[in-house]
Amino acid sequence: MSEGILLAKVARGTLLPEGDRLARLQAALPQIEAALEGETNEVAIQATLACLLWETLPQTNWCGFYRRVADRMLAVGPYQGGMGCLRIPFARGVCGACARTGETQLVADVHAFPGHIACDGATRSELVIPVLIHGRMVAVLDLDCPHLDGFSRTEAHILEDLLARCFQQVSDR
Ligand code: SME
Repeated sequence: MSEGILLAKVARGTLLPEGDRLARLQAALPQIEAALEGETNEVAIQATLACLLWETLPQTNWCGFYRRVADRMLAVGPYQGGMGCLRIPFARGVCGACARTGETQLVADVHAFPGHIACDGATRSELVIPVLIHGRMVAVLDLDCPHLDGFSRTEAHILEDLLARCFQQVSDR
């Protein structure tokens, strides 16, 4: 039904100034929410968010979800970008730290993050946000960027709010 979202084309890997990134995100939000209106399936929401956030955030070289598949284990879910690790234990990496703590991880320089998993050697910064459904951590949104400091605290807050709104609609998995 959709042709993605209406935003200016920006070359993949471009890190725009923060003001431009926030304007782009604000322009995308209503379009993303309209695309997901009434959708109740968790994976359908994840797949569509992976697609539309990839278009919205040109600084990303990986954009998608790791899903909780066992007590302390994540497995790759819907994503855009180069091939990611298939499984990430809670004990490992930025995604694992997010899943373990239930807190957003904003990492300006992955080389300074102990235990970072270098799936793509080009990645220099990351933003990982927990996804909760009815209070339970079911997945994380992983955004990777080939530039240092590729995400801001404000982007993190906007995306946290978007995820909360989108995933409160879930009634089937
Ligand atoms: N660098 C991440 C994992 C990224 S991917 O496999 C796409 C981490 O440390 O959690």
